[in-house]
Amino acid sequence: MAETQQRADGERLVDPIPLRPDFEQTASRIAVAGHPVHAMTVAFPIALTFCNFGADVFYWWTGDAFWARAAVWASGMAFLIGLLAAGSGVMELIMVPGIRARASTWTHAVIAVVLLSILGANWGYRLLGYEAAVLPYGVLLSGLCVIMVGATGWHGGKLVFDYNLGTSNGS
Ligand code: HEM
Repeated sequence: MAETQQRADGERLVDPIPLRPDFEQTASRIAVAGHPVHAMTVAFPIALTFCNFGADVFYWWTGDAFWARAAVWASGMAFLIGLLAAGSGVMELIMVPGIRARASTWTHAVIAVVLLSILGANWGYRLLGYEAAVLPYGVLLSGLCVIMVGATGWHGGKLVFDYNLGTSNGS
């Protein structure tokens, strides 16, 4: 539905984006048997980021090297599967006109790229020495990743639940 605004001088302004003929074409194109790949893959980096933070806290608490090793694996897999998830998201963004037209998708992409940079830095730092890396910077980085993955996931959820993006209802 196009939004209109009345200017002080009486001129009516119409937002042209919702008037595009393909604005309602929002169905996922990167899907397996109708199941969007992006929605299926994002669960892994989200869960692994929380696991990474949990492992850091347990290492801090117990001093057991097992948790530092668990943290380096969780951070690495969060980053690598995050890249895969981002790939499917970018393809949706490029290939689906109704997704591409909405500013909120681009906002989600920018937040996600910032998240991926921090996830990569978090993993790379641990590769230099996974036990020494945890305190203090490892746990600070994984805490920041938890905040960023929360923001990215929350915003991604809004795309699906508020705007029906990536679902099969759009077109
Ligand atoms: C540049 C990278 C990314 C782009 C362009 C992107 C784009 C999108 C798009 C278009 C949607 C709507 C659903 C769809 O079309 O499949 C979406 C949903 C979502 N995104 Fe992303 N995304 C990116 C990266 C990420 C990352 C790294 C995460 C989290 C780790 C994430 C989390 C989510 C979540 C949780 C949803 C909602 C899925 C659902 O509940 O069905 N996205 N994203």
